[in-house]
Amino acid sequence: MTLLLKNNSLIKSQIYSAGHWLDSVNSKTLDVVNPATSEVIATVPYCGAPETRKMIDAAYQAQHSWARATAKHRSMILRNWFNLIVRNKDDLAYLLTLEQGKPLAEASAELSYGASYVEWFSEEAKRVYGDIIPQSSKDKRLVVIKQPIGVVACITPWNFPNAMLLRKVAPALAAGCAVVCKPANSTPLSALAIAELAEQAELPPGLINIVTGNTEEIGAELTSNPLVRKLTFTGSTPVGKKLIAACSGTVKRTSMELGGNAPFIVFDDADLESAVKGALVSKYRNAGQTCVCSNRLIVQGGIYDQFVEMLTNAVAKLVVGNGLESTTTVGPLINSSAAEDVCSMIDDAVSKGAQCILGGGMSSLRGSFVEPTVLVNVTREMRVFSEEIFGPVAPVFQFDTEDEVIEMANDTEFGLAAYFYTKDYGRIWRVAERLDYGIVGINEGIISNEMAPFGGVKESGNGREGSKYGIDDYLEIKYLCIGGIE
Ligand code: SIN
Repeated sequence: MTLLLKNNSLIKSQIYSAGHWLDSVNSKTLDVVNPATSEVIATVPYCGAPETRKMIDAAYQAQHSWARATAKHRSMILRNWFNLIVRNKDDLAYLLTLEQGKPLAEASAELSYGASYVEWFSEEAKRVYGDIIPQSSKDKRLVVIKQPIGVVACITPWNFPNAMLLRKVAPALAAGCAVVCKPANSTPLSALAIAELAEQAELPPGLINIVTGNTEEIGAELTSNPLVRKLTFTGSTPVGKKLIAACSGTVKRTSMELGGNAPFIVFDDADLESAVKGALVSKYRNAGQTCVCSNRLIVQGGIYDQFVEMLTNAVAKLVVGNGLESTTTVGPLINSSAAEDVCSMIDDAVSKGAQCILGGGMSSLRGSFVEPTVLVNVTREMRVFSEEIFGPVAPVFQFDTEDEVIEMANDTEFGLAAYFYTKDYGRIWRVAERLDYGIVGINEGIISNEMAPFGGVKESGNGREGSKYGIDDYLEIKYLCIGGIE
């Protein structure tokens, strides 16, 4: 397939290593497939440990002078990169839709979202402050400085191939670190295009490296190489646990943005129209393939039937199709096996007594397309209560009291995002404080932005991305004890 972009320099079929575009050492390649059509749209190198090791060495070399550069210099380069990303937004969004499937409007929104992290951290680079601590004795002075952690490995997912990469790489570079990134094999093109723009922004060679290929081998090198001092990962909880264990051998710092099982609670006194609108975006954005997607809709008895009716009417208007078509609002899932997994969760619920009032399985478009689905008569015994669905399926549970819904919402090993709708101000505080989640949306279904801390508790991970806290994950605290003053 011929890709048609305004700026063809963004189409890459090589890895980016120490400022060079290279093939894999064994010349093997990996197909990148459009999930909407199953067509191969490009190939990228299928690399392993040797290429990764070379990148880590290059990053280690480059990081030392980058750390010594002024914060203002780092900030200016990040700002140049941000401007280039914005300038090339249409091309990048097109590439993203081709490899990931999401509707073009969503891809374009992801580009702005991803770029906002580069802009934000270009500013935060200049605000990495230390501390002076009151002295413990007359002849001492106690000072704290913050220094970049060093080489950072970034393993990024396919659901937001642009934004998740930038949310990690921008704070790392702002802090004075260098990165070696492994994008998901299904969506490497967005990451490689971003590296091309980093090169055009005159980011010195070696500071950003992108490797594609054998996930296990690359992961093993990134987690065991002692020169890598931190690993940041967005993906599933089982993989996150393995990475944390693998990093323990060299005691690396980790930040993990893992799975979720978000409750979306609607109380009797909620503004129903706004709750339905919130549920729709939070559940069906990116075809339900978002860690912060509402997973379990939990609605109070007094408005349950009305909410289900309004939600079903809204969901019925969604249009499933190829993300490049302007009418599409729900694209394909990432591949047919993901679609089969989601359908098997619907089947599990139906076999245990759930009623499917809309959708219910594979779309007539087949392949990776799943029908937007609404399920009622759902119970805790069903997989849709305990597992992350990662597809366009909304199970609507019912509750009676505030205590009951808090217990239901917290009855999961996950703790990333939760949502609730109410007009009662006392309840806003009570419920927000009792939900065991890192992010709580109150009368709001879209919670992510670069200024706010993104991250979870429990098995949803550790660390925070974005916001004034996001750069801390890439910094070490050093304490200087200065004696001999008096
Ligand atoms: C994710 O799904 O991991 C990220 C979603 C977001 O940033 O809103």
